[in-house]
Amino acid sequence: MSLDSGSLPHVSNIDKAEVYMETIKDKMTDDHRHCDEMFAEAEDLVTRDDWTNAIKRFDEFAKAMDHHFNMEEEVLFPQFEQATGITAGPTEVMRSEHSQMRLLIEAMDDAVHRSDSDEYLGQSETLLIIMQQHNTKEEGMLYPMVDESIGDNVEQLLSSLNDI
Ligand SMILES: [Fe+2]
Ligand SMILES: [Fe+2]
Repeated sequence: MSLDSGSLPHVSNIDKAEVYMETIKDKMTDDHRHCDEMFAEAEDLVTRDDWTNAIKRFDEFAKAMDHHFNMEEEVLFPQFEQATGITAGPTEVMRSEHSQMRLLIEAMDDAVHRSDSDEYLGQSETLLIIMQQHNTKEEGMLYPMVDESIGDNVEQLLSSLNDI
């Protein structure tokens, strides 16, 4: 019996669905990029002394960061801790970095409302370094581990994140 194209194995619909399913890593990495863009735009407006628009953009950035931190602290970190049994490791470091970033964002908030570009840019430079290192750790380690731990419950977890 000859092997024709009709008898070749093909990718099942289930495999195809898995290829295109959104992961926690996809969603949260997109959100990091979204926050990064607002951060860069606000900084650009500050350097151009466009304070009305700088305040507007900064407020959006601060709100987006707060929302992002809340999704992690209320949903993802508990999921990670429950799945791995590790409560004193990576999530503890991430929570403490969130606290540092919240303080820097507060200082930037104060500076932008006083039109103090030196103070704003000093704080934002520090924030950028912490933010980049923090996001690299989450995207490289924490999010993939959460994806791995939840198996088929990704949609349930995505919907919990959307409720925050
Ligand atoms: Fe985080
Ligand atoms: Fe994050």
